Formats: sequence, structure tokens, C-alpha cells
Amino acid sequence: MLFLICTACVALGGCHRGSPDAGAIVYKRYCFGCHRGGTTQDFAPSLFGYLSEGKHNESETRRIIRDGKGNMPPFRKRLSRSELNDLLAYMRTL
Ligand code: HEC
Repeated sequence: MLFLICTACVALGGCHRGSPDAGAIVYKRYCFGCHRGGTTQDFAPSLFGYLSEGKHNESETRRIIRDGKGNMPPFRKRLSRSELNDLLAYMRTL
């Protein structure tokens, strides 16, 4: 029974919490160029502590990543749902 539930979840992508390791790869590929992070503020604001310090809401963050913001392009077409989950899982560790 548990197996069936898990299979259904994976198929729907619904309860996949994401893997920080996979998310790190997504981040380096799509985000790092602008969001270098650390203390230096380059082109884009640092994302260190962005989610882990609890100042930002996750669904709002997903929306920004999907739709873009200001000079940031939208990633709706480039990231699958599971890549976005992985990315958020990684961002929670920053
Ligand atoms: C082309 C450069 C660029 C890329 C690539 C990029 N961003 Fe951004 N991002 C920006 C800029 C510039 C802003 C600031 C937008 C504004 O406030 O006008 C921003 C803002 C954000 C914000 C909101 C920050 C805030 O404090 O309002 C989040 C969250 C974010 N980006 C996440 C990501 C993630 C995750 C990725 C990778 C999927 C990514 N960005 C890729 C340039 C980029």
C-alpha cells in the first residue's frame, strides 16, 4: 500500500520534497551566474539565508523563479517541477 502511495506521488510530482544535491546543480547552472551569493552584491541580490532565515515565503519564491522579477528572466519553461523542488531544497540549505 505504501508503495502505491509513493508511486502515485512520484507520478504526480506532488509530494516530492526535492534533493538539495540535485538542486545545487540546477542552481549552478541557472542561477549562479547572476546570484553569486556570499556577501558581495553583484548584479543580483544574494540568496544566502533567503529561505533558511524564514524571511521569505516559499510559494512567493517559487512564483518569482517561475515568472521572473525586474531584470531576472522567468524560468517557467526551463525548469521542470522536480527541478524547481530540488532548487528550493538546495536554497533552504543556503
Ligand atoms: C540574468 C540574471 C539572473 C538569473 C540567471 C537569475 N536571477 Fe534571480 N534575480 C536577478 C535580479 C536582477 C533580481 C532582482 C530583481 C529585482 O528586484 O528587480 C533577482 C531576484 C531574485 C529573487 C528575489 C530576491 C529579492 O530579494 O527580491 C529570487 C528569489 C531569485 N532571484 C532567485 C533566482 C533563482 C533561484 C535563479 C535560478 C533559477 C535566478 N534567480 C536566476 C537576476 C537573475
